[in-house]
Amino acid sequence: MIFKPFARKLALIAHLTFSVGWIGAVVAFLVLAVLSNTSDNEQLVRACYVAMNVVVRYAIVPVAFVSLASGLVSALGTTWGLFRHYWVIVKLVLTLIAIAVLLVQLAPIDALAAVAADASAPLSSMKEAQRPLIHAIGGLVVLLVVQILGVYKPKGLTRYGWRKENESKANVPAAPTTVR
Ligand code: HEM
Repeated sequence: MIFKPFARKLALIAHLTFSVGWIGAVVAFLVLAVLSNTSDNEQLVRACYVAMNVVVRYAIVPVAFVSLASGLVSALGTTWGLFRHYWVIVKLVLTLIAIAVLLVQLAPIDALAAVAADASAPLSSMKEAQRPLIHAIGGLVVLLVVQILGVYKPKGLTRYGWRKENESKANVPAAPTTVR
């Protein structure tokens, strides 16, 4: 099913809102991660880890899933399709990898926030406290690549894409031949 122009615009608005929103939420997380690694103020550092846990659970994770879902809708509801163009497949794979890494990082971030929230636990007892920073930088790079692919849409049809293209050409009625 291919969207009518109005529905396509709505789907694209949702896709852009949540996808770029995902990037914005990661930037907020990155700011907290940089502060937590550079500040000498212990209370601020503790607050940053607690806030990172909130941002990742209640902003980044939900927005990431809606971005994925809206991307799938935009692909399946347009002639771009899901498996016809390499750029769409690469976007899908990178997005799935980003979401998988995100989900794996939830438990370590939760553990860091638990130590930070416990005033009796020294900050030095935190394991791999730089982990959120490294993942935020990596995640941001991947999301920017996905965004650039979406804007440029580099040419390149998959084998399946060529087949579908030929099928749709074959279904176009031939122009009437003039009989003299
Ligand atoms: C981090 C995740 C993503 C970001 C930042 C992102 C960003 C974008 C951007 C900026 C556009 C350009 C819109 C335009 O110029 O018309 C776009 C379009 C598009 N994206 Fe994504 N995207 C993401 C994930 C996905 C996923 C997972 C898929 C599906 C596999 C997908 C499929 C599409 C399709 C098909 C379009 C074209 C829609 C149309 O022309 O109506 N995107 N995306």
